[in-house]
Formats: sequence, structure tokens, C-alpha cells
Amino acid sequence: MPFVTSKIAVSNNNIIYCEDVKRITDKTSDKLSHYLRLKNDAIMISINTLNIDNPKLNCRLKGYENYSPKRIILDKNLDINFTSYIFKSAKKNNTIIFHNSLNYSKIKLLKKKGINLIKFRLNKEKKFNLKHILKRLFSLGIRHLLVEGGDKITKNMLKNKLVNQFFLFKSLKNLPKNKKYKIFTSNNILKNNYTIKSKISSKLAKDKITIYKR
Ligand SMILES: NC(=O)c1ccc[n+]([C@@H]2O[C@H](COP(=O)([O-])OP(=O)(O)OC[C@H]3O[C@@H](n4cnc5c(N)ncnc54)[C@H](OP(=O)(O)O)[C@@H]3O)[C@@H](O)[C@H]2O)c1
Repeated sequence: MPFVTSKIAVSNNNIIYCEDVKRITDKTSDKLSHYLRLKNDAIMISINTLNIDNPKLNCRLKGYENYSPKRIILDKNLDINFTSYIFKSAKKNNTIIFHNSLNYSKIKLLKKKGINLIKFRLNKEKKFNLKHILKRLFSLGIRHLLVEGGDKITKNMLKNKLVNQFFLFKSLKNLPKNKKYKIFTSNNILKNNYTIKSKISSKLAKDKITIYKR
């Protein structure tokens, strides 16, 4: 299995997504996130995050732009938005999509883009077994994986003890709850199943960064 690092950014009031808010944490946290991207072979997200956030998933540290990790997308129904950055920037060997779809016209289009499509079975709950996904990634040469999941994937990974280290980036700001928002629901799992390895603070950084390990 690959060594798995997972991370999430939360507001002081535990929000991981708030409509119209572009950034939850500050620039120092951003730099560390990009450093994590640099240090990992691949980065895994869900289709929800891809279609809602339209992330670039690249390493934007100056001078290291060419060391961006491979992009791994969990997209069981092939709902990927064809106007997304990930689709548009896909080329041979930089993107893997795990899916369970029979939509041949989409499959053809994605393959034409050079995307490596892996058809993977679903379990009773109509989900991929994440442990099996990790094993497959290892067999494809991925030794260090960064998971930038939303709440569901992160919780699933933490609950099933698939995460080796977890970075919690916590801002001091509260975000409003009068728009669409999503909450981080794994604080108890972290508290009960993981130990705090270190806390990072600096005069420049306003966020509290806690690193947990299993
Ligand atoms: N603050 C942060 O650091 C951060 C980072 C990433 C994303 N986000 C935010 O998080 C939100 C998305 O969070 P979320 O909880 O909705 O999504 P998520 O945890 O990223 O993933 C949920 C999606 O992935 C699918 N999925 C999850 N586990 C799966 C599995 N084992 N097999 C197959 N499919 C699986 C789900 O399918 P089902 O529908 O079948 O459950 C659902 O479509 C977005 O709004 C994004 O902005 C925040």
C-alpha cells in the first residue's frame, strides 16, 4: 500500500466548503499544501470536489511546476465535467480515473484525451473499496499518495485506518452559515484513533496546522 497523507482545510467553525468563499486558509498553509503535492507521486480527489471546485491539483511552488503529481479521480459514473481544468489539461500518463460506467461515448472521449480509465467494481454500498484502490495504485508504482478529499472520502479513509498522516489546516476565521456550506465531521475519529505528531505555528502563519499520525 502507498504511504497515505491526507489533508483538509477547515474554518474555525469547522466548515470545509462555503459557497462564494474561495480560500479558507492563508497563504502559508497554501505553500505547505503545494509542498505536499511536490512530495507525493499522486493526488486523489472525488468527482464532487473536481466538479465543484475545479481544482488544478498541480504544484505551484516556484521552480517546481514540472514536478506536479499524477491526478487520481474517483468518479464511479463518469460525471467529470469536460470543461474542468483536469479534463482540459489531461495528457498521456498524468490522469487516472476509477469508474464503474458503461457510457461508451464518454469512455471513448476520455481515452482519446490520454486518460487512464480503470473500471473498478463497486461494493454493496455502491462504493469502491478504498483499500483495494490503494493496492491498485501501489501496483501502478504510486508509493506516496496525497488525498485531498472532501468530508466523505476523508472520513472513509480515516475510519478505515488508511491514512498514515493527516494535516489539519485550521483557520481562525468563522465562515457564514447563511449560504451553502459543508462541515468537517471527522474530528472525533481524529481524536480517538490518531495521535498528534506536531503542531506548526509561525509568526507569518495565522492558521493552526496540526499533523496527526496513526
Ligand atoms: N476544505 C478542504 O480542504 C476541501 C478539500 C476538498 C474538497 N472540499 C470540499 O468538499 C466538498 C466535497 O465534499 P463531499 O463530502 O461532498 O465529497 P468527497 O468526500 O470529496 O467525495 C464524495 C463523492 O465521492 C464519492 N465517493 C466517496 N467515497 C467513494 C468511494 N469509496 N467509492 C466511490 N465513490 C466515492 C461519493 O459518492 P456517493 O455519492 O456515492 O457517496 C461522492 O460523489 C466540495 O464542496 C469541496 O469544495 C474541501
